[in-house]
Amino acid sequence: MRKKVTIVGSGNVGATAAHWIASKELADVVLIDIIEGVPQGKALDLLEAMPIEKRDSYILGTNDYADTANSDIVIITAGIPRKPGMSRDDLLNTNHKIMKDVVAKAVQHSPNCILIIVSNPLDAMAQAAYKMSGFPRERVIGMAGVLDSARFRAFIADELKVSVENVTAFVLGGHGDTMVPLPRYSTVAGIPITELIASERLAQLVQRTRDGGAEIVKYLKTGSAYYAPSAATTEMVEAILKDKKKILPCAVYLEGEYGIKGLYVGVPAKLGSKGIEQIIQIKLTAEEQAALNKSADAVKELVGVIGV
Ligand code: LAC
Repeated sequence: MRKKVTIVGSGNVGATAAHWIASKELADVVLIDIIEGVPQGKALDLLEAMPIEKRDSYILGTNDYADTANSDIVIITAGIPRKPGMSRDDLLNTNHKIMKDVVAKAVQHSPNCILIIVSNPLDAMAQAAYKMSGFPRERVIGMAGVLDSARFRAFIADELKVSVENVTAFVLGGHGDTMVPLPRYSTVAGIPITELIASERLAQLVQRTRDGGAEIVKYLKTGSAYYAPSAATTEMVEAILKDKKKILPCAVYLEGEYGIKGLYVGVPAKLGSKGIEQIIQIKLTAEEQAALNKSADAVKELVGVIGV
């Protein structure tokens, strides 16, 4: 049977995720939004591209959650994006309200799905969705680490003029200004980048990664990034639907791992058909652990404000 992926929110992130998922023929896609016409129009347009792409994914646009029934994965992108000068945290209350509404409806129609949360502020929205859904933590996953590490990888590849395929990178922590890129665990063809890039320059690349989202917002002015965020989401979808057991950095509800309890924070996790199948614990230096704790504290503050 074909897999079914619902994408809540037909804005740039949602529609572009639909594009990547359909063009990789990973699943049939339902694009849903409260705005009438937009999901229908974008879905139909994408459906009409399938003969050219030689893909048999079916894409349906709708305003009715009944159409989302029995999805394998529900991706939540709904919410407002930031404008220049805003932090992801400024979206907290508005997006929490939207999250409450859409998670309840999505879960009602797809009680066995895996939820991938993309709305910002990411970790707090993932925590809100986790609490609202009543799902086990394995099935509520936040997308951020794949995006943040892709940015880091892009900058490293560009710096060293090597293939992006040779670069692996690790980013821990919340999807915010306090995220923790880990140069020690980032490599080019297996060689730690700490051996290849001078520490001062490396610090600049780390900072650019932390500011990666804001850099795009500054250019776009009316919205935030969407190609890389939706590609990152698609990599997670593929790992789950193909049961790849792929280790990717994801926002996961920690229950003591890394010394953090009761909080969504980005950590390396194994993704397969059951969702989060394992949390990979790597040894951190005291400095790295302190940076992770600081990042977790920033998430804690946000979840405290919305009480989840
Ligand atoms: C970013 C936003 C989408 O990092 O969080 O681009």
